[in-house]
Amino acid sequence: MPVFPDKLHRQIFFGDDALSHLEKFLSEKYRGVQKFILTDENTSVHCLPVLLKNIPELKSAIVLSMKSGEKNKNLVSCIDIWKQLNTNGAMRNSLLLNLGGGVLCDTGGFSASVYLRGVDFIHIPTTLLSMADASIGGKTGIDLDGMKNRVGAFSFPQAVVSYPKFLDPLPQREINAGFAEIIKQALLCGDRLWNMVKQVEPGTKKIKEEIISETLLFKAGIVADDPYEKGRRAIFNFGHTIGHAIETCSLIHHEDSLRHGEAVAAGMICALYLCTELENFPKELSEEISLFIKAWFPWLRIDFADDEIISHIRFDKKKSGKPIRFILLKKIGEPVITEKVTEENIRSAIGVARSYLLK
Ligand SMILES: NC(=O)c1ccc[n+]([C@@H]2O[C@H](COP(=O)([O-])OP(=O)(O)OC[C@H]3O[C@@H](n4cnc5c(N)ncnc54)[C@H](O)[C@@H]3O)[C@@H](O)[C@H]2O)c1
Repeated sequence: MPVFPDKLHRQIFFGDDALSHLEKFLSEKYRGVQKFILTDENTSVHCLPVLLKNIPELKSAIVLSMKSGEKNKNLVSCIDIWKQLNTNGAMRNSLLLNLGGGVLCDTGGFSASVYLRGVDFIHIPTTLLSMADASIGGKTGIDLDGMKNRVGAFSFPQAVVSYPKFLDPLPQREINAGFAEIIKQALLCGDRLWNMVKQVEPGTKKIKEEIISETLLFKAGIVADDPYEKGRRAIFNFGHTIGHAIETCSLIHHEDSLRHGEAVAAGMICALYLCTELENFPKELSEEISLFIKAWFPWLRIDFADDEIISHIRFDKKKSGKPIRFILLKKIGEPVITEKVTEENIRSAIGVARSYLLK
């Protein structure tokens, strides 16, 4: 399958031959360069052996590690990665390959972007969410004091290498979480992608490659026109304003916190209600989509007080001094950026989403 030349990510390789493309890319661009592979305790077991088998040249790479999970997307992990790079003599022209999900790509990408004022890195996403979304777009970063993505940088990888077979050992819960971002992208993209996505049976393990590639290409296209999110790129925050606040609550209260995609799923149900209230989005369609999302997450609940969720949304407001910005939909494929959502609207939306999730 395809190679997508892309002015920001240099190359996006997707499909069964993605690793052979990577092998060629490395020998053309990084021959003789010292390479590091960042893994976590899951990707070192499930993905690293496959990578090394397919690209024998990488057997000489130094394997670095970080702990998995959103709770480790933080400065402690970065310091540890910088120390591992330092101890192993990484230089300005070294290359870091980030082999993992969104947490690892965000943390590894950020670590690389400031180590020695920036070393090259390549994302090799191994979760559905990171293939379809997180590896694309050059956003790297970490959480701070439980607040999502507080510290980071726009820094583009030299290549993104998505090899769908890496998804085979991924637990179903992570597939579902990734599918939430695919639903989001489809609603933003338009009827063609949405019609493909809505036919996927909730709980499906193997997502069609065409859906993943269409989703990532849609994002890459928008990012190419607005790499630093000065305008339209902000649409990808659909479902995220409330979703991030729910995720933050969960990180504080739950030992096994909600996955990012799960929180976004809840946030999207809230946002869909706001679309019907404020943007005349058709009510039946909003219900149909909300029930489809719910079917992917039958166990999902919003079990935090409204005030707490809102306090995490307000944090943004207080900091920027601006009204809260929301992404809503007028119709599928027609997102709008608006600042007219009130606190009362948000409370109603959370209430409605809570009851949907109980249906
Ligand atoms: N940078 C961006 O533009 C962007 C966009 C969307 C989301 N994100 C971020 O992505 C993160 C969520 O990423 P995620 O959903 O990939 O979760 P994740 O990175 O936490 O990975 C989920 C789990 O799956 C494991 N895993 C990874 N690959 C595996 C495989 N092939 N087989 C078995 N287990 C595997 C991981 O070790 C982890 O335990 C959040 O921090 C979110 O903020 C970033």
